[in-house]
Amino acid sequence: MEHLSPKIIVSGGMGYIGSHTVVLLLNAGYRVVILDNLSNSNKSILQRIQQITGKSASFYEVDLCNKTDLARVFDAEKDITASIHFAALKAVGESVENPLLYYKNNLISLINLLEVQHELGIKNLVFSSSCTVYGEPDALPVTEQSPIKQALSPYGNTKQIGEEIIADACKSSALKAIALRYFNPVGAHDSALIGELPNGIPNNLVPYITQSAIGKRAELKVFGNDYSTPDGTCIRDYIHVEDVAAAHVAALKRLENENIHRNAGFEVFNIGTGRGHSVVEIINSFEQATGCKLKYSVTSRRPGDIEKVYADTQLSNEVLGWKAQKNISEMMASAWKWELENSKNPIQ
Ligand code: NAD
Ligand code: WQD
Repeated sequence: MEHLSPKIIVSGGMGYIGSHTVVLLLNAGYRVVILDNLSNSNKSILQRIQQITGKSASFYEVDLCNKTDLARVFDAEKDITASIHFAALKAVGESVENPLLYYKNNLISLINLLEVQHELGIKNLVFSSSCTVYGEPDALPVTEQSPIKQALSPYGNTKQIGEEIIADACKSSALKAIALRYFNPVGAHDSALIGELPNGIPNNLVPYITQSAIGKRAELKVFGNDYSTPDGTCIRDYIHVEDVAAAHVAALKRLENENIHRNAGFEVFNIGTGRGHSVVEIINSFEQATGCKLKYSVTSRRPGDIEKVYADTQLSNEVLGWKAQKNISEMMASAWKWELENSKNPIQ
């Protein structure tokens, strides 16, 4: 009998981190079924994924908030073995303005997925969490045991509540889940065929930098240089999106191969490089890596910004057997290559 490789549901697989993960899954021989409502992505990503890998993923345009539609896909695909749940809204400011949209989208989608998996006896789940759960940490680097702080936004709260929902579901059923707490994913696929597609004016630093460098934005504003850090600007743990994607393959393998009994079947891992970089250091690295000169000025602090945060990655390195490979210079070079390619040959 023909041996079939595992078939994985990737919700939000047309998005930034999801699409990079689908590429790795296809290259690793998995069968991939993408579910996405395209609320923050574009259907042509599917062809780009095929162009990179020479392989096809199945795609269903489905909103995970609709349980009937979701169940129909599982039914049609039959032999799903696990899911990776990226689908969520992620704009922090928008979540403050429209909290119910965020609670509804991010939590109903998760609950529907958990219910369908429970009904079908599909045990394995990887969940996109965030370093935002640590808030302003008391001590650095943050470990997975660092306290969870009061969420600073409804978006952040959906990640905290999401983790709690999954932890409870693991306690009461056969579900085995891994939550990956990403730090600051940046950069793009080496091919420059897929990357981040910010909606409107970017909120995040690296897309703002690349858009300033190409002339889409007048100048970068640095949000405060009076923090208690060596150069006064905030510190983050930036990590290449391809490294983030690789962590999902490692998490999936762990769920497939190990009988996870730590924490009643629910494990959490930090996904960062373990190194902190200030905003000024990022600007300098971008200029060095690309030869572009950035126009920028310092403005006031952005409300809600964390002063400094970076990951302790010992647990993910040792238990997942995963380690970030790419340095800041590679992150900046790939973000810039993507901006240039996408301006010539845009995703549409
Ligand atoms: P993204 O917006 O590029 O991708 C999310 C995808 O999910 C999009 O394609 C969107 O269309 C889809 N989606 C949203 N709601 C849906 C729904 N109800 N049904 C079906 N599809 C839906 O975002 P991303 O940066 O790739 O983030 C992926 C995940 O990682 C999210 O859960 C996000 O919260 C989390 N995360 C992102 C970052 C980051 O900085 N990018 C950091 C930490 C955590
Ligand atoms: C990085 C640094 C800014 C833009 C956000 C979410 C968080 C997580 C990742 C998902 C900060 C500074 C930025 C600009 C600037 N996402 N900056 N000028 O704030 O770490 O986190 O994305 O879970 O939840 O809040 O990332 O890229 O927005 O900012 O000076 O135009 O760059 O002040 O110090 P952040 P960021």
